Parts: sequence; C-alpha cells; structure tokens
Amino acid sequence: MARIVAGVSSSHVPAIGAAIDNRQTEEPYWKRVFSGFEKSKAWMEKTKPDVCIVVYNDHASAFSVEIVPTFALGCAAEFPPADEGWGPRPVPVVKGHPQLAAHIAQSVILDEFDLTVVNKMEVDHGLTVPMNLLFGSPKEWPCPVIPLAVNVVLYPPPTGHRCFMLGRAIKKAVESYPEDLRVVVFGTGGMSHQISGPRAGLINSKFDKAFLDNLSKDPKKLVRIPHIEYMREAGAEGIEMVMWLIMRGALDDKVDEVYRFYTVPASNTAVGHIILENRKRAAKAPAKHKRAAARAKVQRVRS
Ligand SMILES: [Fe+2]
Repeated sequence: MARIVAGVSSSHVPAIGAAIDNRQTEEPYWKRVFSGFEKSKAWMEKTKPDVCIVVYNDHASAFSVEIVPTFALGCAAEFPPADEGWGPRPVPVVKGHPQLAAHIAQSVILDEFDLTVVNKMEVDHGLTVPMNLLFGSPKEWPCPVIPLAVNVVLYPPPTGHRCFMLGRAIKKAVESYPEDLRVVVFGTGGMSHQISGPRAGLINSKFDKAFLDNLSKDPKKLVRIPHIEYMREAGAEGIEMVMWLIMRGALDDKVDEVYRFYTVPASNTAVGHIILENRKRAAKAPAKHKRAAARAKVQRVRS
C-alpha cells in the first residue's frame, strides 16, 4: 500500500529560481535564504520519497486567464519547464507518475472533488523553485512528481477548508493505491507578500509565524481563515497559503515538526518553510497472533 510519509511547505519566490540560475546563491543576500534549506536537503536525501505530489499554482504559464481550473492534476508522463518570459529555467524535465495520478483523479473525483485532469502541461517556478530548494540542482529529479495546480490567481480561489478536505481525499486515494510507495506532499507559495498596489512589499511576520505554529498543532484553526483575512493580514498574494492546507490535510492529525525556517525578505516576500512527518504507525499484528492473544485472555478469565 502507498502511504504519505511527510509534508513539506515552502515559498516559491521566482527570484530564488533566478538566483540559482544566475549562480548568485553564495552572495550574502541569497546565502541567508539558501542556508535555511541545507538541513531540508539532507532530510530529503535521507527520506528518499518514491513520489512527490507538489501542490502549487500556475502563474499564467500553462493556463492563460481564459481558462483557469480550480484544481488541475497533472497526469502526464512528463512536464517540461515553462518559458516565463526569459526562456525555460535550466532545470530537468519533471517526470510524472501517470498511474498514481490517474488513481488519485479517480478516487478524489468519486469523492466529489471535481479535479481537472491535465494530460499536457508545462510547469513554472511555482513548482520548480521548491524542487530546487529541497533537491538542489541535480541533472535529473530523483523521483517522479505529480503536479497539482490550484487557482489562487483569479477570484474566487478555493477556501482553506476546501483545500484541507481535498488533502484528506488525496490521503485516502494514496492509501488505496496497491503499490508500496512512500509519498511526500509539498504545499507551496506564500508566505505574506503583496506584489502590487499601495501595500506592495507588505510582510506580516506575526501572521506567518502563527500560521506555521498552527500548521503543525492546530490546522483546524487555519481552515476557518476567510479569504478577506488572508488579503488583509498577509497581502493579496498571501492567499497562496491555502495550498499549504492541502498538504496538511493529506497528513495524519498528529504530526511531528521536523524543521522550520523563516526569513524576510526574499525579493519582496516572506520566505517560510516547514517539514512535518507523520508519526510511525505500529505494525498491525498478524491475524494468527491476535487469535492466540484472544485465546490466552479467555484462559486467564476462566482460570
Ligand atoms: Fe506564486
């Protein structure tokens, strides 16, 4: 049986990708950001997932404003990096996992989450930047990836509660897949930022840190945050944080926080990152052991 072992959330600031591509990671401004992900890369290297599900948003790269699906699941065999105006990023083509993706699509759609199935899609910085932060810059990505693009660009985006419940449905889908696969789910975007208008440059560290705290301890509190509160407290683009709730919904109720990192600013954005692990589940006792234990209990009662 496949199972989700951990969840990772990370900002996906495009300037982080540009810093990698232009070899600026050792410059003091960027070193502050990249050094926060060194432990995360070591964790990922040790965790070695068989598949990652990366929840992100497309920034008008694969979908123009003419068609914006609320939830779009990448079911293709591969996803090339998108040209975002200055040529595709020099990162490997993302290999998909069409079998597991098709299984998730079937399971969650029958659970009444109407995903758009996407059989051809390019992926932009929303997906490739967190991949770099957790996997570095390898020649090939070390595992297949299932992209899940969420609309947080065109009003109305889904609610935090809807996202959390979709995570729940994804968890159920993964756990009903027969192959033994260890899956890590990424939630990307955020944290507080606003890129235009009179409040451009807004950062709210207090809101971000409370969000990180509740993500591990009390996510039910987060699912009640309405859109207007994200806008007010975390800026217009802070709404991206609803995608973190898909990751959290896909995990067990009780999780262990393995690592977190927060720094401001990167470009004009607060960079937040957290790693949450599901607790190890006790192996189920084989049926014959259970029967023997029941017989012993009966004998104890009779004697
Ligand atoms: Fe974004």
